[in-house]
Amino acid sequence: MQKPLNFKSSPLSENWWESAVFYQIYPRSFKDSNNDGIGDLGGVIEKLDHLNDGKGGGLGIDAIWFSPFFPSPQADFGYDVSDYCNIDSDYGTLEDFDQLVEESHRRGIKIVLDLVLNHSSYQHKWFQESRKNKTNSKADWYVWADPKPDGSPPNNWLAVFGGAAWTFEPQRGQYYLHNFLPEQPDLNWYNPAVREALADVVRFWMKRGADGFRLDTANYYAYDRQLRDNPKRPENSELIEDGQEANPLSQYITKYSKDRPENLGFIHFLRKIFDENGAISIGEIGSAEGLESTLKLGTDYVKKGKGLHLAYTFSMFNKNMNTEYLEHVLRVTEESIGDGWPCWSLSNHDCMRMISRFDCFGERDGFQQMMLLLLLSLRGTPIIYYGEEVDMQEYEITKDELRDPQGIRFWPDIKGRDGCRLPFPWDSKLTNQGFNSGTKPWLPAANKLSLDQAKADSGSTFHVLQEMLQIRKKFPALQNGSYQKILLDGDCFVFERKTAGETMLIAANFSTEEQSINLPYKVTKDLTPKAYKRFCTIKNELLTLPAFGYFLGDK
Ligand code: GLC
Ligand code: CA
Repeated sequence: MQKPLNFKSSPLSENWWESAVFYQIYPRSFKDSNNDGIGDLGGVIEKLDHLNDGKGGGLGIDAIWFSPFFPSPQADFGYDVSDYCNIDSDYGTLEDFDQLVEESHRRGIKIVLDLVLNHSSYQHKWFQESRKNKTNSKADWYVWADPKPDGSPPNNWLAVFGGAAWTFEPQRGQYYLHNFLPEQPDLNWYNPAVREALADVVRFWMKRGADGFRLDTANYYAYDRQLRDNPKRPENSELIEDGQEANPLSQYITKYSKDRPENLGFIHFLRKIFDENGAISIGEIGSAEGLESTLKLGTDYVKKGKGLHLAYTFSMFNKNMNTEYLEHVLRVTEESIGDGWPCWSLSNHDCMRMISRFDCFGERDGFQQMMLLLLLSLRGTPIIYYGEEVDMQEYEITKDELRDPQGIRFWPDIKGRDGCRLPFPWDSKLTNQGFNSGTKPWLPAANKLSLDQAKADSGSTFHVLQEMLQIRKKFPALQNGSYQKILLDGDCFVFERKTAGETMLIAANFSTEEQSINLPYKVTKDLTPKAYKRFCTIKNELLTLPAFGYFLGDK
């Protein structure tokens, strides 16, 4: 290995992750630099200026979360890692990674890597060893259990991607646990040797310049060691609308297979390692047990001393976004989060694109821009999903285009996640929308709008986002200020963000009709991004918002 480089990060404050705007890249789909149909690190490097050129140009984001690019048989497109300390040849080399770090840091962009530590790939050498017999050096590195007397799996736990969460390994005569695909065996976090090996993975990437980590399925590490059956779900229980279709877990409450109290201990363990180098953590904390459970888990994990810097939940992956839903999510979060810090996102690589998902009376145009403006106005760290700046829509995947194992298994009931992972459309005039120079991309390059077109339109989401990010940078209240609800009046929602010296007022109209509301005080300055063409008017205390109007004022 070449000498580890230690690129020190850009001089943001110690709590940079609270005010930073994150952008999630799905590397397979961002930009293909060597024209093999698959996005890669070279492609990301080429396009960094689009995100932030370090001189005030580009979107202006502060940090990138990369979905995994480590060696992987790609059974779940990188969420099945066969070597934690290298780069998959599909995506490049460690030298490319070093260059990515250098080029990003030079622009003031932080790098957050996606660590899939709940499970490895079945092709990882640890599992290849572990599966051989009950006495090898890695025998206890995964979760093994004997069959029931009739040969069936040890308990009723189900895999997220269908079927039992257990697969029989004839060589060993035992079942192994996999909460996801059989190709993704769960690591045994109760084994200290496993924890140490994973800590070394974290250290490896911190030394190489990573500023933080997104922790995949971070509430799955612990499981019930007695392997008790999960209880049946009551018939009428509420399920979270997470933008995906029917959840195969929904028959049972995942009481014993995830969200175990001991899980926090494992997160603490990781936090100590992160703290060795000041790295930050964003834990994916999913719940299939309804919104209230999502909000509870998402806030529990970030209270002081609880481990995570940020918890990434699916609380805004619902279908019917409205003022009451939003106000509820914000209120419960504020009431429960204590000294923790919230984190918000409208979509990712696992759920339907938000512009297609939010059912706003069938009139979505404009709504996605208002939602992004709100995302950037909330108290908490916003994460933008790649392509939101060009209104990337959910693509209707056909059976022969399917790549996602979830879609392949459940077709046509669940079409999987390919539809939200299309190649980024860089240029409408170029072949494959500029994703590469002609090889058929791994998923079709088929978005309606491309970046060149978005740039040419002064009212596009690209310009709205860019302007809003500049405004956010100027006003600390938008970054770190407190949150206070001012008014919820039918389809209008008004709140404040406040620091000692600054009060910003934010108002939004979720309806397709113009609305007028009386504000509690006179707002002196209208700071709404000019690129957002749904102009509001303000006369003394009376604010008039057009359909999907958004208003930002300085008291
Ligand atoms: C997370 C990832 C998802 C993956 C799963 C299993 O939910 O976001 O893409 O399939 O974990 O690793
Ligand atoms: Ca490539």
